[in-house]
Amino acid sequence: MTSTSPREILVTSALPYANGSIHLGHMLEYIQTDIWVRYQRLVGNRCHYVCADDAHGTAIMLRAEVEGISPEELIAKVQAEHEADFANFNISFDNYYSTHSPENQALAELIFNACDAKGHIARRTITQAFDPEKELFLADRFIKGTCPKCHAEDQYGDNCEVCGATYTPAELIDPKSAISGATPIQKDSLHMFFKLPDFQALLEEWTRSGSLQPEIANKLAEWLEAGLQEWDISRDAPYFGFQIPGTENKYFYVWLDAPIGYMASFKNLCQKTDNLDFDHYFNKDSSTELYHFIGKDIINFHGLFWPAMLHCADFRTPTAVYAHGFLTVNGKKMSKSRGTFIKAGTYLRHLQPEYLRYYFAAKLNNRVEDLDLNLADFVQRVNADLVGKVVNIASRSAGFITKKHDGILSDKVNEPELIAQFVAAKTEIGDFYENREFGKAIKAIMALADIANQYIADQEPWALAKQEGTEQQVQDICSTGLNLFRMLMIYLQPIVPDMTAAAGNFLNAPMTWQDLEAPLVGHQINKFKPLMTRIETATIESMLEDSKQELAKEEALKQAKPAASATFEPIAEQIQFPDFAKVDLRVVKITHAEAVEGADKLLRLQLDIGGETRQVLSGIKSAYTPEDLIGKLTIWVANLAPRKMKFGVSEGMILAAADGKGIYLLEPDSGATPGLRVS
Ligand code: 2FM
Ligand code: ZN
Repeated sequence: MTSTSPREILVTSALPYANGSIHLGHMLEYIQTDIWVRYQRLVGNRCHYVCADDAHGTAIMLRAEVEGISPEELIAKVQAEHEADFANFNISFDNYYSTHSPENQALAELIFNACDAKGHIARRTITQAFDPEKELFLADRFIKGTCPKCHAEDQYGDNCEVCGATYTPAELIDPKSAISGATPIQKDSLHMFFKLPDFQALLEEWTRSGSLQPEIANKLAEWLEAGLQEWDISRDAPYFGFQIPGTENKYFYVWLDAPIGYMASFKNLCQKTDNLDFDHYFNKDSSTELYHFIGKDIINFHGLFWPAMLHCADFRTPTAVYAHGFLTVNGKKMSKSRGTFIKAGTYLRHLQPEYLRYYFAAKLNNRVEDLDLNLADFVQRVNADLVGKVVNIASRSAGFITKKHDGILSDKVNEPELIAQFVAAKTEIGDFYENREFGKAIKAIMALADIANQYIADQEPWALAKQEGTEQQVQDICSTGLNLFRMLMIYLQPIVPDMTAAAGNFLNAPMTWQDLEAPLVGHQINKFKPLMTRIETATIESMLEDSKQELAKEEALKQAKPAASATFEPIAEQIQFPDFAKVDLRVVKITHAEAVEGADKLLRLQLDIGGETRQVLSGIKSAYTPEDLIGKLTIWVANLAPRKMKFGVSEGMILAAADGKGIYLLEPDSGATPGLRVS
C-alpha cells in the first residue's frame, strides 16, 4: 500500500431470492466477495459489505401461497435462514437487509420518478398471456404445453428441454397455465418501459472504463453493437412488490428494485452508523469505490440497466462489476438425485465452513470461469494444505516452547533472512488478493509453507532436543517456526478467518497485515490446540446422502399446487338440525368410471346405490383415474335435484374435500354397504 489515506469501498454480492435456500453455488459468490472484503479491511481500507434478500416477484407470491402463508411471512422466514447460513460461513456483511423495505421503496420511486421526469420512461399497451382462472398475467416460464417442434409434452413457454427448440408461448401446442392448468387467453395491458437506448453513449463509455473483466466488456460491447432494447419495468397486479407511483395496479418488476436494494441496504447501514454518509458514497462525483460481485447469468442487469438507471437519477455508476462462473460438483451440474445440489445448511451439518472457503479460494481466479468442486480433490487439498502443511508447522514447534521454555519465544529474531523473505511476499500476495487471483495467492502462501516445513525438517529440533546443551538452539528454531506460521496465518486470514483467530489466540498475538513486519520475540504463547482437523471421506458420503433425502422431501412439497385459500376457511352460517336432516346422504359403490370427452375436469361415474344405479358427473379427474375409483365406496347426496350439464345429467353428487393441492374423496369405514343412510 503506497497511498496514505485508506480507500473507501462499498461492496455487494447479488441478492438471493427470498423463496429458497442458499446452496453451495450461491456460497461460491459470497465466499469470493467476503475474501476480497476481508483483504481490504486487513490492509486497512474502509470497506463496507452489504447485501439483502431479493424479496419481490411472482415466484415469491406463488411460493407463499403454496405454503399457506403471506409473502411477508415467507420472506421473513427465508431471510432468517439465509442470515444464519451466511453467519455460519463467516460472511462478514456489515448489513443484511431486504428489498421489501421502506428505504428501497423510497429509492425505487426516486429513481423511477427521475427517469420519468427526464423522459426516459415510455408507456404502451402490450398483449400477453393471461390465466383466466388465477386472473394473472403469465410470464413465459409459467406457461406449459406441447413443443411445436418435437411434440414433447409439458414443456415451458419459451424453450423445449427435450429438443432444445426456442419459441414463443403462442407457438406452444395446447398451452396451459402452469399455475392453474387453465388455457391462457391473450389480454392487453398498459406497461412502462425504461428507454435503455437513450443511454447508449453512457454505456459505451462506462464499458470502456478499463476496470471491467475483458469477458464482460466484450459481452457488453456485443450488446451495444447489436442495439439496445427498451426494458419492461412494470407488472400488473396481483404482484408482490412496490406499486408504481401514480398507478392503481402496476408494480415495479422485481429486477427494477433488486439492484436498488444494494443502495437501500447501504442507506439502512448509514442510518445506524456514525460517520458513514450515503451521499458521500453515491453522489455522482463520489471518490469512493463501488463494486458488485455477481454470477455470469446476470451481467445484463448489472452492466446495462443498472448503470443507466443510476446515471439517470444523478447517482454515481459502479467502479466495476465482477462476474464469476457457475459451480459444478464432480464435473457436472449440481444434481438433486446425485445429492450434489448441496444446501449451505446441509454442508454445515457435516463439515466446517473454512474447508470450503479454502477450497473455493484455491480454485478462484479473476475470470468468468466455471469452478468445479471435486469432492475427492476437496478432501485431499484441505487435508494436505491446511492440516498437512500449515498446522503442521505449529504443531511441530509448539511443544518444545511450551514444555521446555515456559511458552516463551526466543528474545531475538534468529533467521532474519527467512523472516524477511516471508515479509517480502506481502506485495505479491496482496496484489493477488486485490486482483481476485485467490488461487495464485494460495499457491504463493503454500510455497512459503513448504519453505517453513523444509526449514524445520532440516533443523530437526526433535533430534537436537535429545542432545545436551541445545535448549537455546531448539528454542530459536521453534520460535522461527512459530513466527513463520504466524505470517502464513496472517496471509490466510481473508480465507480462513476463524482459523487465523484461533492461531492468534494460541500465539497470544495480533494478526493484522502490519504485524507481518513485527515478529514475536521474547513473547509468551498459549498452549497449542489443533487448529484444524482432517476431513474424512465418510463425512462426504453422509453429506451427499443427507442432501439427497432432504431434497427429495422438498421436491414432494414443491409439486403441490398453490393452496386454494391461504387461511382456514370460515365456518358457514349456522343451520338447525331439521335443515341438515333434509339432506339424504347414502353410502354408494362406484361400479364404473370413465373420462368425459371434451371435459378437462370431469369423470362420468356409475354408482350402485343399493340395488339401483345412478350416474354422476364429478369434477375429480385431476386427482383420480377411472381405475382408481372403480370398486370404491363413497358418500352420495341422494336427494340433490338432478343437474343438466353440457355433457349429460348428473344425478346428485358425491362428496370430496379439496384444498388446491388435491381432491380427497370421502369413504365410509370398512363394513359399510351401498344404500346405507348416513346420519
Ligand atoms: O439472480 C438472482 O438470484 C437475483 N435475485 C439477483 C439479484 S442481484 C441484484 F440486482 F439485486
Ligand atoms: Zn421439442
